[in-house]
Amino acid sequence: MSESLAHEAAALDAADELAGLRKLFALDDGVYLDGNSLGALPAHVPARVADVVQRQWGELRIRSWGESGWWTAPERIGDRIAPLVGAAPGQIVVGDSTSVNVFKAVVGAVRLCDDPARTDIVVDATTFPTDGYIAESAARMTGRRLVPVAPADLPSALGPTTAAVLVNHVDYRTGRLHDLPALTAAVHEAGALVVWDLCHSAGALPVGLDANGVDLAVGCTYKYLNGGPGSPAYLYVAERHQPAFDSPLPGWTSHADPFAMTREFTAADGALRGRVGTPDILSMLALEAALEVWDGVGIEAVRAKSLALTDFFLKCVAAYVPEGRVTSLTPEDHAARGSQVALRCEEAPAVMEKLIARGVVGDLRRPDVLRFGFTPLYVGFGDAERAAATLAEILEA
Ligand SMILES: Cc1ncc(COP(=O)(O)O)c(C=O)c1O
Repeated sequence: MSESLAHEAAALDAADELAGLRKLFALDDGVYLDGNSLGALPAHVPARVADVVQRQWGELRIRSWGESGWWTAPERIGDRIAPLVGAAPGQIVVGDSTSVNVFKAVVGAVRLCDDPARTDIVVDATTFPTDGYIAESAARMTGRRLVPVAPADLPSALGPTTAAVLVNHVDYRTGRLHDLPALTAAVHEAGALVVWDLCHSAGALPVGLDANGVDLAVGCTYKYLNGGPGSPAYLYVAERHQPAFDSPLPGWTSHADPFAMTREFTAADGALRGRVGTPDILSMLALEAALEVWDGVGIEAVRAKSLALTDFFLKCVAAYVPEGRVTSLTPEDHAARGSQVALRCEEAPAVMEKLIARGVVGDLRRPDVLRFGFTPLYVGFGDAERAAATLAEILEA
């Protein structure tokens, strides 16, 4: 479309220190901008999963719970995710879905707060729906009131009646990044606990859970962590809260001595309290293998590339797309931007269909939002330019 932007993309790709990581993924010549929904497959994962199925399950069978490290996978993989979200080891367990972990975290936060005068669970009014549904149920179960508040209005909505606050770190629709350090401090100032949903930030930008004194957090692993469809989620419980963390789902695998098979529940120490039942080993070990692409990769470098990619994509869209056909919902300000660009477009459903037919895969949030996710491990500047050029051609046609 424009020689100069194509040249600029080529120069940016040539200077990109993460460019070599793309070959670790099973990708074709298309442009894959949906890693904020389902991350691409790391190319070595199928052989590892085949080994888990054929050798660990097929040959070792029950012995694999010990010999293949199945039993300890939830906490071991939690420790592998920990540095990506700024957590010291021993605070994250992997397992269950994000939805289930939201439930554990919100009820757990209200129980940790342990103050009947704190009657409110505050929830991000713009949240991904599952968090809102579960927070509402958690409020009913704990005898609290659900108070939906837009993240920008949170500081003024908090007070002596706030028990717990559930916020999305990055808005799934607009790509807006909320100020985790400031909001965490505001929640603490009000004497409440905060639960962060990291689905759209983990693996895309530094989170700083420990450094910011976050209480609890949850996240999925199938987006920027490339764990595969339905791969297990995780729960972070800050070390200082672990002794009092009272999970609403105390299953046998979070028992201090699971094989004692006692009638009474005695919670295990540490992050293991977040476990529930038998871990879903096939998905979990696919995730563990997938996380190897992060070996030697710093999240700061990933963040720098993510911002450069989204800046460049917005620049190409501004240069190529006819005036007025799309409006960006994604903040210009880097401090408020996640790793996706959301464009409002009147004909969004038909446009996304045509983009996908032409090899540019993003997704749609009804009625009129085109979403483009930028996963710095495998998306390049040439991809950003091609996506913008294809979008412009479709809108011009
Ligand atoms: C912010 C957020 N929370 C939760 C979920 C989904 O949770 P689950 O993994 O339980 O489907 C998503 C899915 O895209 C999400 O974006």
